Amino acid sequence: MLEKDKVKAFYDGFGRKQDSQAFYEDPVVEEMVRHADFGTAESVVEFGCGTGRFAERLLTDHLWPGARYWGCDISETMVSLARERVLPFGFRAEVVRTDGGTSLPLPDGGADRFVSNFVLDILPDREIDQVVEEARRVLKQGGLIGLVSLTQAIGPLSSLVMGVWNALYSFRPSLVGGCRPIDLGSRFGGPGWEILHQRKMASFGIPSEVVVARKRDG
Ligand SMILES: C[S@@+](CC[C@H](N)C(=O)[O-])C[C@H]1O[C@@H](n2cnc3c(N)ncnc32)[C@H](O)[C@@H]1O
Repeated sequence: MLEKDKVKAFYDGFGRKQDSQAFYEDPVVEEMVRHADFGTAESVVEFGCGTGRFAERLLTDHLWPGARYWGCDISETMVSLARERVLPFGFRAEVVRTDGGTSLPLPDGGADRFVSNFVLDILPDREIDQVVEEARRVLKQGGLIGLVSLTQAIGPLSSLVMGVWNALYSFRPSLVGGCRPIDLGSRFGGPGWEILHQRKMASFGIPSEVVVARKRDG
């Protein structure tokens, strides 16, 4: 597992190259978007916004003109790229650099959506749970969480791909951006969430999981 300072150093160096991952990320992110009803959201929080590509897409194509976006990232490079990207949206969008911790400087119950694409698969297991708890804190009752991450192989091609991926990760996690396959769905079995959509899908042999869940009362 990559420590936080190494994650930051990697993504500071990777910068714009992150957008070259769109070929396998976009179909899965699109699947999350189809089930997360962004059109009715007034405020969206994104954990690990990268270059701001998803923020720009949300603000341009999916959110209504009064809706606001707040994103954070551990990487200075990513934060400055994302700020550049959301500049045309003025006060509607804010991007903040964090120290990589899972506590966000946001009030309780203020957000309609909490999203994180290909970030939780970089975090230690206990921090994945902490992000999910933090999402529950910042979401309004009935708010939705939409997550996408790398997951375990789901067919012969992805078994092959993930064999190579896992070998690279064991040798040097930075060779695969610090990402390893995880299981998202199992984190939403408790009474605090209702899963609305869960799907594992492979794109170019790279397997990903999408979960969209609603915050329940209580
Ligand atoms: C694989 S990239 C994905 C970026 C973006 N979500 C996307 O889909 O293009 C992972 C991103 O998560 C950020 N990141 C990693 N660990 C983080 C943490 N603990 N807190 C905030 N951001 C983090 C990285 O800096 C990087 O921008």
